[in-house]
Amino acid sequence: MSIKELESQEKSQILLNKISSAIAPFQVSNLIVKGNCIEIYESQYNQILKINIDDIYKMTWIKFDCIHEVTFEYKKNFQEKYLIDNESGSRSFDVLKTKVAQSNFTNNYQRLETIKQIQNGEIIKCHSRVNKQIYVAKIQRNNHFMIDRELQINLYIAQHPHENVASIIEYYFENDQIILIYPYFSGGTLNQHVNSNASDINMIKVKSIMKQILSGLNHIHNLGIIHRDIKMDNIMLEDIYDHKSIRIIDFGFSTFKENLSYLCEKCGTIGYFAPEIINGKHYNEKCDIYSLAQVFHVLLTGNPMFDRNMNTQQIIRLSKHNLFAIDYRNVKDKKAQHLLFKMLDFQENRYTVVQCREHSYFNKAQNLQLKIQSVETFQFKSPF
Ligand SMILES: Nc1ncnc2c1ncn2[C@@H]1O[C@H](COP(=O)(O)OP(=O)(O)OP(=O)(O)O)[C@@H](O)[C@H]1O
Ligand SMILES: [Mg+2]
Repeated sequence: MSIKELESQEKSQILLNKISSAIAPFQVSNLIVKGNCIEIYESQYNQILKINIDDIYKMTWIKFDCIHEVTFEYKKNFQEKYLIDNESGSRSFDVLKTKVAQSNFTNNYQRLETIKQIQNGEIIKCHSRVNKQIYVAKIQRNNHFMIDRELQINLYIAQHPHENVASIIEYYFENDQIILIYPYFSGGTLNQHVNSNASDINMIKVKSIMKQILSGLNHIHNLGIIHRDIKMDNIMLEDIYDHKSIRIIDFGFSTFKENLSYLCEKCGTIGYFAPEIINGKHYNEKCDIYSLAQVFHVLLTGNPMFDRNMNTQQIIRLSKHNLFAIDYRNVKDKKAQHLLFKMLDFQENRYTVVQCREHSYFNKAQNLQLKIQSVETFQFKSPF
């Protein structure tokens, strides 16, 4: 055997070793995702196979130079392996990665740093070995129904994305953990933004930020989801220099509205949750509007509505009776005051997301007035 032949044999052996496993792969030319079904066209047998996506537990998807290798692990405990041509592989992977969990997070990502330790795991910044981009992974032990609910809501949102709502790129099941992959939002949370750029948040910016959050919330509510943890830490900016890049994150407390039994469940963050939640009453999506009012107050005044020196018990006692003190000295705009008040009303009279969006605070003439005012203030500002 010549050296060339030996080399080529070695090369094919390496490729085979990479692809090899206990199960022999089917050579496939086309894999098409149609709704909840995968259609596989096997060139060898000239037939179409149909797989129901719900039957797959997870998949391992490996992209070689000119071929994709996918292994489906089924809930019924068996596996199938397919080799798919490049073009069809890339196309179907893009659709499947938000519908089926993958299994090889550690292979695909390199951990860079921990962003935050959370109750059930951690949030990390990581580097994709596949496309060399930076992402965020929310890694949580799969030991509570709320973790699975968070996954289901994220999957639903991924199928119905919106520019102001964070959407997963893909997800993994590895070592009994659920790992959600998001784009990295380098602009930080609204909390970080307000604390680092307090002077930079002018009234036009506040209006724009509020408009975007309301747009995202409207989308979430229209999908039948209640967020239940709207707060400064759960609203992010994709880009620090672009205040039009608002993203609502964290569906850890979210629920589908139709799960009526949950709608007495107490969850949220002290200082943000609505009186009906604290009082154990049946509630609805308007609880998000109450929480958003707290965000609105911080954006307008730089301070939370409940004094920073109050303890949890004091805040809960006041929230129970819906007692609050708007910092009117710092909310001079009458329309902003009115909107804030309507967002903080008791559930029956509180504004819905649609009513908030239609409020005159957001109309264009008012915006123009603000712009003129800011130019005037700038022009006539005393140099002393
Ligand atoms: N895509 C992202 N890009 C950058 N940072 C992020 C991203 N997602 C989350 N973070 C950071 O991690 C923090 C926690 O994320 P998240 O709210 O999803 O977790 P959590 O379990 O609800 O934590 P918490 O109890 O703080 O709300 C966020 O407040 C933010 O600082
Ligand atoms: Mg959070």
